[in-house]
Amino acid sequence: MTGADAPTRNRSAVRSLLRLWPYVRPVRERLAWAAFVAVLASCLSLVIPLVLKWIVDGPVAERDPGGVWLGALYLLLLGLAEAALFGLRRWLVARPLAGVEAAMRDDLYRHLQRLPVAFHDQWPSGQLLSRGTTDLMLLRMFLAFPLTFLLVNGVTILVGFVILLQQQWSLGLVLLAPAVPLVVLCSLFESKYSLVARRSQDQVGDLTTVVEESVLGIRVIKGFGRHRSQARAFRELSLTLRGTELVKARLLAGIWTTITALPELAIGAALVLGTVQVADGGLSAGTLVAFLSTALALRWPVESIGFLLAISQDAATATERYFEVMDAPEETAGGGAPPSPPATAGRDGMVFDAVEFRYPDAPEGTPPVLARVDLHVRPGETMALVGATGSGKTTLTALVPRLHEVTGGRITLDGQDITAMPRERLRELVSVAFEEPTLFSASVGENVLMGAGGGAGEADLERALDTAQAHFVHRLPEGAATQVGEQGLSLSGGQRQRLALARAVVGRPRFLVLDDPLSALDVHTEALVEAALRRVLADTTALVVAHRPSTVLLADRVALLSGGRVTAVGTHQELLRTSDEYAWLMSGAGDGGTSDGRTAGEKGDTA
Ligand SMILES: Nc1ncnc2c1ncn2[C@@H]1O[C@H](COP(=O)(O)OP(=O)(O)OP(=O)(O)O)[C@@H](O)[C@H]1O
Ligand SMILES: [Mg+2]
Repeated sequence: MTGADAPTRNRSAVRSLLRLWPYVRPVRERLAWAAFVAVLASCLSLVIPLVLKWIVDGPVAERDPGGVWLGALYLLLLGLAEAALFGLRRWLVARPLAGVEAAMRDDLYRHLQRLPVAFHDQWPSGQLLSRGTTDLMLLRMFLAFPLTFLLVNGVTILVGFVILLQQQWSLGLVLLAPAVPLVVLCSLFESKYSLVARRSQDQVGDLTTVVEESVLGIRVIKGFGRHRSQARAFRELSLTLRGTELVKARLLAGIWTTITALPELAIGAALVLGTVQVADGGLSAGTLVAFLSTALALRWPVESIGFLLAISQDAATATERYFEVMDAPEETAGGGAPPSPPATAGRDGMVFDAVEFRYPDAPEGTPPVLARVDLHVRPGETMALVGATGSGKTTLTALVPRLHEVTGGRITLDGQDITAMPRERLRELVSVAFEEPTLFSASVGENVLMGAGGGAGEADLERALDTAQAHFVHRLPEGAATQVGEQGLSLSGGQRQRLALARAVVGRPRFLVLDDPLSALDVHTEALVEAALRRVLADTTALVVAHRPSTVLLADRVALLSGGRVTAVGTHQELLRTSDEYAWLMSGAGDGGTSDGRTAGEKGDTA
């Protein structure tokens, strides 16, 4: 919940919104024009009362019907011009602002891709989703409307008051009287509203997380009949959000009421005083009409301020939430550290040298997942990595492609420190297949070829599918062109695993890291995959996490991970003899039926 618990410290909405400048810069001219047009339109509406004054004091007083008609025509033209200008403003801003939103969303997405795995471990996905959708929409709305209108209304009010004071300064002052309490109330409102706005947007993020989890976990929910509890969790969150929205509405209602009531009272007072002055002969009827209609024309600009401030607050909060993600540091490009001297020139295989690792979010005082791992996988060798569940095998494999950074020691590939080479180079050298095979919404072929550089083609695809024993692909409706992933065909666990394996080997990588890649296959298919891997990857250096004796047999040697260290290295047979823990692990693997399983079982019983 890191994202949701961000400090709601006191900050200035203006400072937050100023951070949007780089995105607004490219469209600044358009926005400036739009604002200018809107100011013009708004000021046109202030000319209307002056025409009214002219009609009342001129043609009406002199009983000249022609003049009245002419005045009416002027009014009509003014109204049309105002409408046309507001239309022009909308047209001016619509397209550039859609561009701003798209650019911000693009940047967010690119940044999310570059953030380290540790960041994604800590942030609920719903919080990220809501920032990329709701928050950006709020920002576009803000740029389209309140940003211009805070300016336009400000100018209109200023110009309006100059006209009012110039018409009759004493009445003008009466109208100005509520300004002071209004300013105070608005700033009070802003500080309260900003807190609630933040809370509400964070709660939208939490709600998104729940929706996302229940969609992704629909099988578990149904399988365990958890609809009710899931629905309850959702209802609770959505009730909390509703509560927050009601607080927002209450605050808005309060400010609306005062913002409308105070000026209304002032206008009433001015009306009474003005009528008295007209009766006394101190003021012309036309001036009073002009005065009052100017005052009425100013009502909307004044009243809308509360509402504009509210949207601006929402936008400031959205900006903060957006930049909270954007400010998280990306992965370093690598190659920053001084290149380590090549220990042995040429090919040295994969070396773990006193590697230590602890998760950034691990509680204080807990021992590191990997305390001190020393391991040498020789060039061309396949090393199996065995260890009890939770011993850190997946963690160790994630260190090689630098999904996490080692916190001590170093890993070298052919003598070169992985932190000293650019990430792109590293990820060219190393291919990985993870425990959870992920397929994207694309064709089978695209999913597999994702693992190779640009040059790979049909032949490479076929070879990789063949190596991974993924012959089922040819029986799919459209072969390798069949769409899979969330938007396509659903594949079985073993089928997905084989595609993930094909993806790992398609680029013929120098180094291969496989996290239990064959766990979902039956032993016969597994044996076929092993044979193919041996043939195709004869000179690939591989580290393969294994749970079953049958997978271990794929390897030249086996390393046992225990207590954050590699405690034994040797062939399967050697380790069965020398390590009780290894023998016990292999016996417990319950492979059902392989000869090795039996050997291990016998050993295990005595352990
Ligand atoms: N992202 C993470 N943040 C914090 N701790 C983690 C994270 N991932 C794993 N751990 C912890 O690290 C330890 C090792 O986990 P790891 O996934 O490496 O085990 P494993 O050997 O692969 O287990 P298995 O055989 O079940 O796959 C576990 O205690 C786990 O709780
Ligand atoms: Mg694991």
